[in-house]
Amino acid sequence: MFLNLRDFEAVARERLGPGAYAYYAAASLDEVTLRENELAFARRRLRPRVLVDVSALDTATTLLGTPVAVPFGVAPTAVHALAHADGECATARAAAAAGAMFCASTMSSRSLEEIAQACDGPRWFQLYPQDNAGPRTEALVRRAAAAGYSAIVLTVDLAAPARREPELRLGWMFSEQPSGNLASAVGADDVPPMRFSWRDLAWLRGVSPLPVVLKGIMTAEDGRLAVDHGAAAVWVSNHGGRQLDRVPASIDVLEEVVAAVAGRAEVYLDGGVRRGTDVVTALALGARAVFVGRPMIYALAAAAEAGVALALQLLADETRNAMALLGTPDVPSITRAHVI
Ligand SMILES: Cc1cc2nc3c(=O)[nH]c(=O)nc-3n(C[C@H](O)[C@H](O)[C@H](O)COP(=O)(O)O)c2cc1C
Repeated sequence: MFLNLRDFEAVARERLGPGAYAYYAAASLDEVTLRENELAFARRRLRPRVLVDVSALDTATTLLGTPVAVPFGVAPTAVHALAHADGECATARAAAAAGAMFCASTMSSRSLEEIAQACDGPRWFQLYPQDNAGPRTEALVRRAAAAGYSAIVLTVDLAAPARREPELRLGWMFSEQPSGNLASAVGADDVPPMRFSWRDLAWLRGVSPLPVVLKGIMTAEDGRLAVDHGAAAVWVSNHGGRQLDRVPASIDVLEEVVAAVAGRAEVYLDGGVRRGTDVVTALALGARAVFVGRPMIYALAAAAEAGVALALQLLADETRNAMALLGTPDVPSITRAHVI
């Protein structure tokens, strides 16, 4: 029985081969950051206010001006076809039905155009620069704009590929997975934006008709640099513990980034979001929205599109319940005073 986001993993593990499961589940080195992402949420405590009329509860908000029904979305994750033959088209359809933001990965199994056709909901495109500030990167950005994606999410925490030992032990090769967006199979793990640096952001903003979000910011210093370089939003993330191990949980650095950004850009967070109580905690600490990675691919593997729809519904129900019990009838009423 699927009662919450964690319930999908065991079924998914049975259905996926050991290699695909290891690819989805693993994190780098000792997986300290992976564990910490969830533990840090569990350490937070909520401060409920009572006798607030919560009968007309509203979870809606906007992300860079795009209306969404819930303050959470689907994080970009690679090669959904490993989980289900319909790949990202199934995941994106479920997100659209829930009114949740769907962020399609550069490393999707399906092309960004196919995903856009399947999903008439709010959608962003996650960018790994293919040739740094070059024509192949520009072509991806232009395709995303033409296909109705409303922001470019530049992932900035992949300066080098990290080692995920569970996959190495199994000899499982990500680079054999076919890609819908790239001419060839995907590169050595995710393609690293090795030479992409702050000055290339000006180039990206110049060629992109869409606002640029920086995903993978973990410090106040980089949060400030991001807005100084014109980022429309900053996405606090440690890549689900898959890049530098032993960085803090994303929820533990959210506040310093929010303070550095100082209202000049929207701030999002991912990493370890599993419960409605996690959603309200992140919102209370200043996130405008949160994103969910692994549980969505586990739900896809466990029960196809219906699984993703159920996972999103369960998280929406939990978020509504947490808001009601917290005494916050809508998203703007969730404040710093609601969390310790
Ligand atoms: C299997 C897998 C593949 C991922 N692929 C990408 C990707 O292609 N692009 C990207 O920006 N982030 C990628 N991520 C990171 C997610 O966007 C997100 O930061 C992370 O999964 C959030 O943590 P969570 O899994 O605890 O929810 C991937 C994560 C996983 C688990």
